[in-house]
Amino acid sequence: MDDGANDNPSHGQEKPFDGLVKNNGSLSLLDAATPQNPVITPELYPLSKIASDRTRSLPERLESYEIILDSEVGDTSLTRARNIEREIGLRQIYLKFEGGNPTGTQKDRIAFAQALDALRRGYNEITVASCGNYGTAVALAASLAGLRCLIYIPGGYYAHRVKEIARFGAEIVRVPGDYEEAVKVSRIEAEKEGYYDANPGGSNTNLQLKTYGEIAYEIYDELRDAPAAIALPVSNGSTLVGIYKGFVSLYNRGKTSRIPRFIAGSSYGMNPIIHSFVKNTSKCIDLKPERIRNTSVNEPLINWRSIDGDYALSVIRQTRGWASFTTDKILLDYARLIREKEGLSVLPASTAGLVALVDRHRKEPFPGDRYVVILTGRKA
Ligand SMILES: Cc1ncc(COP(=O)(O)O)c(C=O)c1O
Repeated sequence: MDDGANDNPSHGQEKPFDGLVKNNGSLSLLDAATPQNPVITPELYPLSKIASDRTRSLPERLESYEIILDSEVGDTSLTRARNIEREIGLRQIYLKFEGGNPTGTQKDRIAFAQALDALRRGYNEITVASCGNYGTAVALAASLAGLRCLIYIPGGYYAHRVKEIARFGAEIVRVPGDYEEAVKVSRIEAEKEGYYDANPGGSNTNLQLKTYGEIAYEIYDELRDAPAAIALPVSNGSTLVGIYKGFVSLYNRGKTSRIPRFIAGSSYGMNPIIHSFVKNTSKCIDLKPERIRNTSVNEPLINWRSIDGDYALSVIRQTRGWASFTTDKILLDYARLIREKEGLSVLPASTAGLVALVDRHRKEPFPGDRYVVILTGRKA
């Protein structure tokens, strides 16, 4: 963190939205509205200018950024998927579509919350390690707050979203090695240089988990109780833990009659949470790094160490949930199924939770109840 007096010329605020700003400086949605180009509502752009302006007072900057956050992030749709229900023979499946967030995934929630936190606490830089979705979300959130952003990308991984990350003005640092190595380097740099550390498992974990808890509140707002189960994809397990904590809070406050079961899915043999559940180990055990094979489909789901793994595993067990692996082919098939049956274009990796729900239902049929499946958009 620096004192804010000297702006870095490569600062994120200089670069973002080149694709949006046209001739007279006014914005047109059409200028950037291709499916690959994340957009925020153009009328909010002046607020980003205020949030990024270090000559303004902090309350003014925070207020502007909060309006952007409230307007653009979260409150994603929850819709009943009757055609999928018929297809798999389980009633009352709801799809919570995180694709409505600006960069198409739930990562926007924690990226914007942390950018706001970074502003409030006087940081000028934010960093994270990511192969794609999270990095894109942090790059956008940082650019709108005028924060310099450093994204550490593991060298050998597919990183489809690197162009978007660059377009949002973030600095990209390629780290030789895997995701875990990139997290380590990003974290060390954060400590050394005083950057805001947006990595999972670091000093801002509580904020991340609390923010994911808002997904639970939104589901409750629609259903007026907790569903029987939440099915979702896992990598580090942070999203799962955050949603669980949201439901625990609702339950403790007397709002819901139960806490949902948690059902997790991930890529075959490449996620410690699922592996540990299947092997029935007491803790979430690391996998062998050399076993991890990154593909264009499984990239959001794989790791040899799940940072919130112990917690996620205990939630799955405590709630009498379920966890299972799936293959790239099945993920692609499910994404196609959702598009054909429900008209929703989803990221194949994000269907891993639905695959696990169906897997469990086939082995031991669930009763008719309400089941919520978390999905993300397919921008990646
Ligand atoms: C689209 C998507 N879904 C799920 C996950 C897994 O989330 P978590 O690491 O919180 O388990 C990721 C992680 O990057 C992701 O990008």
